Amino acid sequence: MEQTKKLIIEITSFLDKKLKNKAQREILNTLKNISLEKKNYNHQIPNTPPKRNSLQKALKSINSKPLIPLRKSIFLASNEMKWNIDNGSFYEKNSGIGKHYLKGNMNSELIGPINGSFKSNEFRLGLFLLEPNIFYKDHKHEAPELYLNLTNGTHWRFSNRIWEEKNAGSVIYNEPNMVHAMKVNEIPFLSIWCWPYNSSKKCVLVPRKDWIELE
Ligand SMILES: [Fe+2]
Repeated sequence: MEQTKKLIIEITSFLDKKLKNKAQREILNTLKNISLEKKNYNHQIPNTPPKRNSLQKALKSINSKPLIPLRKSIFLASNEMKWNIDNGSFYEKNSGIGKHYLKGNMNSELIGPINGSFKSNEFRLGLFLLEPNIFYKDHKHEAPELYLNLTNGTHWRFSNRIWEEKNAGSVIYNEPNMVHAMKVNEIPFLSIWCWPYNSSKKCVLVPRKDWIELE
């Protein structure tokens, strides 16, 4: 419990320095109000990360000074973490999310209603990893979404805009129903991920003509 708690505190203090926008600060305030006391702890049985090599590779790649304390905290908390693979449960059945995503993702919830180490009915905060060379198709969801990106090299597409690379240390905020897609390069994508509310609603794919070339 202790290392997970320290990691959440480290994430909170990093975001406190970083977030400016009102909607993002509101998410942070909700996070600050979640109890990290023992009575709110929901013990998760730790496991070997299913994408262990990619996790190690991602952590090793983190070398920018402001992110070092977070890297250390993740490393220390990793012995307490339970990793899950999304086998499509974030999507409607037979959504067509595709083999790239299904084979290439894992997440660990630090806070959440069921799989979180600390309980919250709606708020979900965790680590999210995609393996190298994964294309994560354009999709949207009712939950607003905050990513703290920890690794370099991943490109993002928002709505109909052109692809852009987001560097380690960047924050990506998706308003509810903002369409987004990701292309991971050689470095695995590792991030802190947060859905503050509407977090049990499914993701919806938004088809694009270039999926055939990208997958
Ligand atoms: Fe998303």
